[in-house]
Amino acid sequence: MNQIGEGYVQVGRLNPSISFYINEKTEHKVVIKRILITQGFKELAVYKRINQLCLNGVPKLLDYWMDERYLYLKISHMAGISLNRIHEPSHAALKRHFIDRFDQVIFFAEQMLKNFHRTGYLHLDIKPENLMLDETLNLTLIDFGVSAASTEQQTNGGTLAFMAPEAVHMTAPVDELSDAFSLGMSLKYVVEGEISRLSRSGLERLSELCHQDKKLRRY
Ligand SMILES: Nc1ncnc2c1ncn2[C@@H]1O[C@H](COP(=O)(O)OP(=O)(O)O)[C@@H](O)[C@H]1O
Ligand SMILES: [Mg+2]
Repeated sequence: MNQIGEGYVQVGRLNPSISFYINEKTEHKVVIKRILITQGFKELAVYKRINQLCLNGVPKLLDYWMDERYLYLKISHMAGISLNRIHEPSHAALKRHFIDRFDQVIFFAEQMLKNFHRTGYLHLDIKPENLMLDETLNLTLIDFGVSAASTEQQTNGGTLAFMAPEAVHMTAPVDELSDAFSLGMSLKYVVEGEISRLSRSGLERLSELCHQDKKLRRY
C-alpha cells in the first residue's frame, strides 16, 4: 500500500504537481496535489475549514502527508474540464449550453462563491484555470494556493487579467467583492464574442459583477 491508499492506481499526470488516481475497485477518483511545504500550509488550512463546514462546490480534503520538501494533498476529483479549455473545438456543445443557460450559470456560480466565503477565506485567484465545469453546468472552485483569511490585510497577488482593480492598484482593501469580480471576469471569458446571445438579465448581472468601481458592484 502506498500513501495514496490501497487500490489506487495512477491514471494521469498534468504536471509535476498534479496527478490523477483511480481506485480500481470502487472507481473513486482522486487528485494528488504536491506543494512545497513552505507554500502549502495556507491551502491546507483552507481545506480543513472546508471539511469542517462540509461545503459543496469545492473538493474535499481526503488525506495529506509530507516528506522533507513537499506537502501532498489528496483531494476529491471534480468532474468536467477547467474553464480555460472551454474554447477547444471538442467542447463546443458544452460552451453553447453554457451560453444558452447563462442566467442559471451565473446564479449558481454566485451561490457557489458565497458558499466558499463561509470559510472566512477569500480565494484571490479566481480565473478559468481554477474553475471546473461539468456537463450539467455545475461550476466548482479549486486551488486555494493564494487564499487569505478575509480579516488579513496582506494578500499574495493573483492573476492580473482577472484581478479586481482594487487588487491590482491597491486602492481599496480586497474583500468578497474582489473575488466576485474575478468570477465575473472568468464567466465573461467564456461568453466573450457571443454577448448578443445572452439574455438581458444575464448580461446585466455580469456587468454588475465586473463593475470597475467597487462601490457599484452588487454581489
Ligand atoms: N480536484 C480537482 N479535480 C479535477 N481537476 C483538478 C483538481 N485539482 C486540480 N485539477 C486540475 O489541475 C489543474 C491545476 O490545479 P491547481 O490546484 O489549480 O494547481 P496550481 O496551484 O498549480 O495552479 C487545474 O486547472 C485542473 O485542471
Ligand atoms: Mg491553479
